[in-house]
Amino acid sequence: MTSLLIDNIGSLVTNAPELGAGPLGLLNDAALIAEDGVVVWVGPRSAASSADARVDAAGRAVIPGFVDSHAHLVFAGDRTAEFTARMSGQPYAAGGIRGTVTATRAASADQLRTTVAGLVREALRSGTTTMECKSGYGLTVESELRSLKVAAEVTDEVTFLGGHVVPPEYADRPDDYVHLVCTEMLDACGPAAKWVDVFCERGAFDADQTRAILTAGIDRGLQPRVHANQLGPGPGVQIAVEYGAASADHATHLDDADVAALAGSQTVATLLPGAEFSTRATYPNARRLLDAGVTVALSPDCNPGSSFTTSMPFCIAVAVRDMYMTPDEAVWAATAGGARALRRDDIGHLAVGASADLVLLDAPSHTHLAYRPGVPLVAAVVRSGELAWRMSEDLR
Ligand code: NIG
Ligand code: FE
Repeated sequence: MTSLLIDNIGSLVTNAPELGAGPLGLLNDAALIAEDGVVVWVGPRSAASSADARVDAAGRAVIPGFVDSHAHLVFAGDRTAEFTARMSGQPYAAGGIRGTVTATRAASADQLRTTVAGLVREALRSGTTTMECKSGYGLTVESELRSLKVAAEVTDEVTFLGGHVVPPEYADRPDDYVHLVCTEMLDACGPAAKWVDVFCERGAFDADQTRAILTAGIDRGLQPRVHANQLGPGPGVQIAVEYGAASADHATHLDDADVAALAGSQTVATLLPGAEFSTRATYPNARRLLDAGVTVALSPDCNPGSSFTTSMPFCIAVAVRDMYMTPDEAVWAATAGGARALRRDDIGHLAVGASADLVLLDAPSHTHLAYRPGVPLVAAVVRSGELAWRMSEDLR
């Protein structure tokens, strides 16, 4: 057994209201002890016992590790030119995905592995301790299976996204592609994934096609989540709720019935402001969702097309500045909200029994994540009770 004491925490976000003030369960002058990767004690620092190892937080704020529930990390190639064109007025369209598909199919498994590992490490340095990872740039049986296997090397939260777009070779017979996904592709890929996701959008998959793919995934033991209402209004959110999906992701273009359906469901609305930022689109109305009682998560949506960032602090800053979330709501959405979107109760909070995943901030409170945008505030990251990354050797 190895234990770790995080001592001298100026302000601790536990996300456990029974432990401290407000929905964030905020404690001042706190300490936390982890043993064998799990939180075993949280309380006032004056009452902390000793442990095998000690980290002096020196008055820093500590928050749960970010839970990123939406990432497309298995890809090759580069879409800088598409981004540059967009910034000069070109609109974003789902079809850009096909360029990444060509590059991903041509890449070796080792090239994909190197990219994924690099992005996971980049995310860790900005405080992300859990990351979901989707396929979706292979779009053949072999290439999707390969993507899922590469994803499984870095996370248990592996999502089959064979329903990302119709690949070019099926352009004039999309229903044949949906049939392939629902039969041979899911037969091969189902055992390698936990989740099934579909991009339900004009230019990708319509309502019937989305339902067919979700049903085929569920039949093979996968749990549903949906890319819904990103580029325009559509049936995605309603389908997500109808299927009991863990999350409806993007949720940008919603009508009152969509908001009501989410509010009356267990489906989280995962907002991805990096996508609106990088496609220069209107942000989702987080205030409307929160005021209706919808559970909201935030994620960077890292992908080479619409949002090439792994930074949760960036998303928090945008969510507060431009989506009218309070700093408390945004930090909760990036931690506990992400955990809800993955239907996990062992992460996203720091009560006794939770995974000891936490972030030390070079700041007196979590509010600085929004107040000091673009500043690298993450001083150290502890994952499963181990120091996984620190900015400076001085922190011990
Ligand atoms: O979540 N919306 C669909 N998929 C990605 C974009 C993928 C791409 O453009 O390569 C997203 O934004
Ligand atoms: Fe996405």
